[in-house]
Amino acid sequence: MDGTDLLTIGQLSTRAGIAASAIRFYEQMGLLDLAGRTEANRRLYTRDTLRRLAFIRACQHVGITLDDVKVVLDTLPADRPATPTEWEAISVVWQRKLDEQQQWLDRLRGGLGECIGCGCMSFEACHRLNPADGATRLGHGPRFWKGDSPADVAPAP
Ligand code: FES
Repeated sequence: MDGTDLLTIGQLSTRAGIAASAIRFYEQMGLLDLAGRTEANRRLYTRDTLRRLAFIRACQHVGITLDDVKVVLDTLPADRPATPTEWEAISVVWQRKLDEQQQWLDRLRGGLGECIGCGCMSFEACHRLNPADGATRLGHGPRFWKGDSPADVAPAP
């Protein structure tokens, strides 16, 4: 067997542990290529589609959008299984994006009990670190998660 063996959508679904409806959705989004159809008009996929599905699911687990997944999958060849070098090239291209994802995960893991400069003013610390919601002057959203510092919103001396 190699990456060009053909699998029905049912076989693919079972092996990947992903519902057939999700596989059809990924195909409609252009994330997967249909290799053909059986005489009974059932979808057929090459075996290397399993790797693409695992990649798509892993990306979804860490919050990468399917549109972003499509951009990188479109760089892989459609007419043969991608080589390890071609998969490796994706990780190089994505290094910055993955680093950013890691920074957000670190913030979520370590900063939920702290003031994040979001404007809620619901912690006692908010009034000390974000007096009068001064963080709103720096822009929208959780400013301290976005890289601004409470020192940036300190009242003028
Ligand atoms: S946590 Fe929202 S302003 Fe402090």
